[in-house]
Amino acid sequence: MAQKMIRREFRESDLAQIIEFKKQSAKTSFRGQKLKVDRFTARLTESVKKDPGMIRVLESNGTIAGYIWVGLSEGDFGKYGFLHQLFIHQDFRGRGLAQTLVKDAEKYLAKRGAKKMEILVTGTNCPAHKLYKKLKYKDTRIQMEKML
Ligand SMILES: CC(C)(COP(=O)(O)OP(=O)(O)OC[C@H]1O[C@@H](n2cnc3c(N)ncnc32)[C@H](O)[C@@H]1OP(=O)(O)O)[C@@H](O)C(=O)NCCC(=O)NCCS
Repeated sequence: MAQKMIRREFRESDLAQIIEFKKQSAKTSFRGQKLKVDRFTARLTESVKKDPGMIRVLESNGTIAGYIWVGLSEGDFGKYGFLHQLFIHQDFRGRGLAQTLVKDAEKYLAKRGAKKMEILVTGTNCPAHKLYKKLKYKDTRIQMEKML
């Protein structure tokens, strides 16, 4: 059967799959740390309530193929967008879907006044780093952390 890919806003029924994606991401980006599912859910729900367009979900024949969640903030240098999360299901990677989601999000945020988009990438996450480089993102800061 031909796979028809739909890009749409988030629905409550997507939540369980998105939590699963977050848990998978955490294995790379938050190694050894436990996800506070209730807090994550509350933040996501609040973001959707405030602006449903900040989360875009990819669906293919009833399967959630991935999603992007962005935010808009205002700092001392004006409005900027930032990436909360981007995840493409393993079976759907390498087809340009992440690129499409990021480009869509950039347009959405720019229309709302964002002058730039900020993305934090875990140092070992080469696929993601390459993706953003391809989309013309520059390495600007080094984020440091240690467990206490
Ligand atoms: C990173 C991720 C979002 C990429 O999704 P994707 O849909 O497969 O990416 P795309 O097909 O749009 O790839 C676009 C470009 O990204 C880079 N890229 C993507 N996956 C790559 C990989 N495994 N290795 C090297 N480069 C990769 C390439 O430059 C690629 O362009 P090309 O195909 O012309 O070489 C996906 O692997 C994922 O969900 N990973 C787990 C979650 C995650 O790391 N999220 C990002 C957090 S900051």
